[in-house]
Amino acid sequence: MVHHKLLGASLFALLSLFISSQLFAQEAIEQRQKLMKGQSANAKAIKGAVEKKDYATVEAKAKEIVGSSQKIVDLFPKGSTSDKSRALPAIWEKWDEFSKNPVKLKDAASDLAKAAAAKDDAAIGTKVKALGDVCNACHKPFRAEKKG
Ligand code: HEC
Repeated sequence: MVHHKLLGASLFALLSLFISSQLFAQEAIEQRQKLMKGQSANAKAIKGAVEKKDYATVEAKAKEIVGSSQKIVDLFPKGSTSDKSRALPAIWEKWDEFSKNPVKLKDAASDLAKAAAAKDDAAIGTKVKALGDVCNACHKPFRAEKKG
């Protein structure tokens, strides 16, 4: 009888743990996809602003990417995948490599913000390209082509 209760309690605890980690993963996936969409919108805004030589917007949007880049690693808790996520297991298998990418993103966005503040057209052109390269360099090894 006592044994049954104990078994029941530990099964319940395990089940709750499982459910809460699933919820945790689901929330992290939603949040990082939202963050990535925001980065994409910022990157597009930057391209448009570069064409108009709107340096203030380039600088502001680059700084937003500096901010969001620092939230990336926390939104990839171990094993957080689902059929709605394109995150590849390589993220956690090569965590050291993966976790360097948000730092590269922060540096690239911060370089771009500086070039925009200096209104340096040539540097802005180079830094915009470098920023896009960082996005692609992380997507290639760590993001699946398609969902599911
Ligand atoms: C640290 C690696 C990394 C960096 C850097 C990175 N991404 Fe991502 N990105 C990912 C991963 C992994 C996913 C898939 C997330 C998922 O589906 O769970 C993703 C997903 C996306 C998505 C799809 C979001 C959705 O709605 O499913 C967009 C858009 C995107 N990234 C844009 C960008 C842009 C633009 C940049 C650069 C400014 C960037 N990313 C930088 C790793 C990265």
